[in-house]
Amino acid sequence: MLNLNIIIGSTRPGRAADHVAPWIAGLAKEHPAFTVEVLDLRDWPLPFFAETYQTIGDPQHPAYSDPIVRRWNQRIAEGDAYLFITPEYNHSVPGVLKNAIDSVFASLPSATSRRPSSATAAASPPGSGPSSTSPTSPSRRRWSRCAAPC
Ligand SMILES: Cc1cc2nc3c(=O)[nH]c(=O)nc-3n(C[C@H](O)[C@H](O)[C@H](O)COP(=O)(O)O)c2cc1C
Repeated sequence: MLNLNIIIGSTRPGRAADHVAPWIAGLAKEHPAFTVEVLDLRDWPLPFFAETYQTIGDPQHPAYSDPIVRRWNQRIAEGDAYLFITPEYNHSVPGVLKNAIDSVFASLPSATSRRPSSATAAASPPGSGPSSTSPTSPSRRRWSRCAAPC
């Protein structure tokens, strides 16, 4: 079984993801290939990234200065595949999602490289979101440098 992490990339009250995420998570849970874990950034009040090389320590076993950042890195490392549900804010992802990605940057090469990732837009009105979910967006390219299409 693959551990699919579904990451909800908006924390705004009334966010469109509240309509989309339960449906997508439900479909994924019905799939026999996956165990599904929904990582709602509302439950992960990560500090704005402020690590230094000293606080990160060994990039193979990063320490980080804040326990929640350490837990976030561990949780992401436990995933086998990732699905981002995100709106588009100013032709990119919301700052809260960018910060969550920044917060695992030292672990990214070992934790997520070559693991499949995808993204779906959750937006109201429909039609928003292509820049946030594009596989060519910088964050997506950095997250998953997959050998196979992802
Ligand atoms: C700060 C902000 C910036 C936005 N920028 C864009 C944008 O660049 N392109 C777009 O298509 N929609 C944009 N939108 C529309 C949102 O993608 C859409 O309203 C979405 O539902 C908001 O996400 P949320 O419901 O999770 O907060 C923006 C909305 C906000 C609040």
